[in-house]
Amino acid sequence: MARKIIIDTDPGQDDAVAILLALASPELDILGITCVAGNVPLALTQRNARIICELAGRPDVPVFAGASRPMVRSLVTAEHVHGKTGLNGPELWEPGMPLRKEHAVDFIVKTLRTNRDGAVTLCVLGPLTNIALALIKAPDIAEHIHEIVLMGGGSFEGGNVTPAAEFNIYVDPHAAKVVFSAGIPLVVMPLDLTHQTLTTRDRVARFAGMGSKVGSFTAEMLGFFERFDMEKYGSAGAPLHDPNVIAYLLRPEIYGGREVNIEIETESMLTLGMTVVDWWRVSGRGANATFMREVDDHAFFNLLFERFESFVDS
Ligand code: RIB
Ligand code: CA
Repeated sequence: MARKIIIDTDPGQDDAVAILLALASPELDILGITCVAGNVPLALTQRNARIICELAGRPDVPVFAGASRPMVRSLVTAEHVHGKTGLNGPELWEPGMPLRKEHAVDFIVKTLRTNRDGAVTLCVLGPLTNIALALIKAPDIAEHIHEIVLMGGGSFEGGNVTPAAEFNIYVDPHAAKVVFSAGIPLVVMPLDLTHQTLTTRDRVARFAGMGSKVGSFTAEMLGFFERFDMEKYGSAGAPLHDPNVIAYLLRPEIYGGREVNIEIETESMLTLGMTVVDWWRVSGRGANATFMREVDDHAFFNLLFERFESFVDS
């Protein structure tokens, strides 16, 4: 029986790779893709999600628009990383598949109320606004969530948008605080982990060499996406953040981490959006998340290559 998931996302080239990995994996049953403002405004993230579904030949996947801004703060975007479109690199098109009329938050609530008893996993690739709003609107859904696997936060690796904060948490720290205190099983893929999965030249070339539209599109996305981080970190490639969320569902054994307490800073302007990770368990606060720090990056990319090879041009 395929595992039921909802992907909440702000595509974003790395989100796009994560969505394609999920679409190429029969172990997963994508009930819907819910979009949120983040890397670029909502009008673009929901458009980009539909472009990716069409690229994969899956216009049947329901795509929903959710929150157009964070719960309290004003929206901060990342065009400098992802480009104006959010998917700079390849040529884009106006998607033909419709955006569903239902609000993403209503879809999340309805889906969890009709798939009860822990049947659904939430895969969260952007700011947590939609998830927090769903939990506030319908607290009863918390018990029906199997677990939330999210890309966000950082500890020993610091932040990527301020010295203390990672982008997804920084954009909506209040939403993150709601989610991290909801008592739902959380698996966190932080910068400490995603900075180990780098899109090196030969890995990007591997996508380009697949001889498929998806392979070429992915190589062109990554070719654009990596330039900012390679310059910033002086690394041999860019961290491919979001696909780690989906890869965890498929190959949990390639990841390692620890059950710890994680709190979210929502007051201090200096450290707003920081994930305060009690790695050495000194606070006495109860564990509320699994903070992942190890990954077999070769196994991660081999999984990506193996699944992306399955995309063949019709
Ligand atoms: O900090 C990296 C995260 O922020 C990724 O999810 C990327 O897509 C952006 O949303
Ligand atoms: Ca993202």
